Amino acid sequence: MEKVVITRKIPENGIEKLKEYFDVYINPVERNMTKDEIIDAAKDAYAIIPMVSDVIDQEVLQRAKSLKIIANYGVGINNVDIDFATRNGILFTNTPGVLTQSTAELGWSLIMACARCIPQADKFTKEGSFNGFSPTLMLGKELYGKTLGIIGMGKIGSSIARIANFGFNMNVVYYNRHESDKQLLVDAKKVQLDELLNISDVIIISAPLNSESRYLISKKEFDKMKKDVVFVNIARGEIVDTNALINTLKEGRLFSCGLDVYENEPNFDKRLLEFDNCVMLPHIGSATIQTRERMSEIVADNVIAVYKGQCPDFVVNGDKLCSAKK
Ligand code: DGY
Repeated sequence: MEKVVITRKIPENGIEKLKEYFDVYINPVERNMTKDEIIDAAKDAYAIIPMVSDVIDQEVLQRAKSLKIIANYGVGINNVDIDFATRNGILFTNTPGVLTQSTAELGWSLIMACARCIPQADKFTKEGSFNGFSPTLMLGKELYGKTLGIIGMGKIGSSIARIANFGFNMNVVYYNRHESDKQLLVDAKKVQLDELLNISDVIIISAPLNSESRYLISKKEFDKMKKDVVFVNIARGEIVDTNALINTLKEGRLFSCGLDVYENEPNFDKRLLEFDNCVMLPHIGSATIQTRERMSEIVADNVIAVYKGQCPDFVVNGDKLCSAKK
């Protein structure tokens, strides 16, 4: 049987499907695999199912001589050397769509947690500091009718906008680096980045990481934001210059910030821990039971499709590699 490597344990439904066709190797430990471990496990593998945090670069791919498909467990694609994979005939798939709502809901959880000081209030209550109703305790920011700036208006950005429109009657503006010809089904206005930074009461990043979005938000951009803005990043840590974020927090210019992602995960900058108004999550954007099960099914289906000589769904580099199969 051909071998499939899964770099972290995923829900059983996908694994069961894969076991009908493959010898399935699952990382046995509760941590990410090191690069050497991935190289060793993948060297004789037919398929690899990496997490979005696993770097699948040229060094890994060069050693994986039998590899036919990389089925990323996630929507992000910045962890894989796509050009190298394509040149070597290796298909690359991801799991878009199924995680749109869960990730948008997580984005909103962070916005609400930041705007209403939820983690601080939880800590305060649990540590025994609650001594009665106070008119000045944990005052947050009301969102109704305010302006939400969305950086990256893809599927997830659009879902966030829909919740803003219908749930909070917010004025939504967005910035996309490139024109999209897809019709937006939400009430949102496209603006330049500077305008978005200037007028938004809440800013959320939901853009993919690529060479153009790396450090898109640095000192210059933080300087243009309103004082007391709520700033949230659910996309990729590398889109924000962490030093600039920390300096902005130090200067007290953000009401709060919410982070689900970090530069250099999982080794995030520990200076972030100093700020009570920085809400920090461990990259759980798509982490609902339903979504993770659907993702498990998709990666399994994609690997099995390739094994059967078909073009899988959600193929990122299929233009050249799939045309013959269609
Ligand atoms: C992804 O799938 O790329 C997301 O980062 C999950 O939260």
